[in-house]
Amino acid sequence: MRARVFPDYDAMSAAAADVVAQSLEQLPSAVFMLPTGITPLGMYRRLVDMHRSEGLTFAEATFFNLDEYLGLASDHAASYHMYMKEHFYGLIDADPTRIFVPEGTAPDPEAECERYEAAIAEAGGIGVCVLGIGRNGHIGFNEPGASFDSRTRVVELSESTRKVNAGDFEADRAPERAITVGMATIFESREVLLLASGTNKAGAVAAAMEGDVSESVPASMLRSHPNASLFLDEDAASDLGRGVAG
Ligand code: GLP
Repeated sequence: MRARVFPDYDAMSAAAADVVAQSLEQLPSAVFMLPTGITPLGMYRRLVDMHRSEGLTFAEATFFNLDEYLGLASDHAASYHMYMKEHFYGLIDADPTRIFVPEGTAPDPEAECERYEAAIAEAGGIGVCVLGIGRNGHIGFNEPGASFDSRTRVVELSESTRKVNAGDFEADRAPERAITVGMATIFESREVLLLASGTNKAGAVAAAMEGDVSESVPASMLRSHPNASLFLDEDAASDLGRGVAG
């Protein structure tokens, strides 16, 4: 995994948006896997700007989201459906028939996971997968210990992840489970772009880049991917090269 350190969050976000825009220019029908969270907001803002001011079109592209909370309706304010609509899909010219987000209220969650994997395969697999990283090294909702062979499935969220995400929910109670795209599904993407910003990610970044490649640090899997990049700002890079990786 190649690491590129940018002076700040805006520069990192602009470079990430350029990766997406360039792949669309090369292949307007590109297939993307996209993350939620605070980290990608700058990239989404920049892509929306490029759509509005430079005519960048997403009309032929296909989008899959990485994850969704189990039990949350798509119109719940904290759902990833809503996040994507507010920050990206609702602001560009994406074709609604080519936008996929796992259904948190599917009556049969296991069947929903199988349907999701099948839709990814039917789209020809993922071209560019953009990821954030959790403070414990998670990618999507693949928490430490997730098998590198895993596919889209229902997972239990760790206490630490629920705590970090609690502020989005009434009474500070985040859901206990989620649907996430699996590690193997992520790994099969032709290109992976991992984004990290801020000092609270520095430990996870160092563990992923400089610790062992291990299921206990999910993002470390990307070190063996043939075409993965890590874009980070100086704060997120602040533990690299210090021998502190666990
Ligand atoms: C969340 C999401 C991840 C995201 C991560 C980091 O729990 N499931 O897909 O990458 O945590 O989020 P943030 O960018 O807000 O730090």
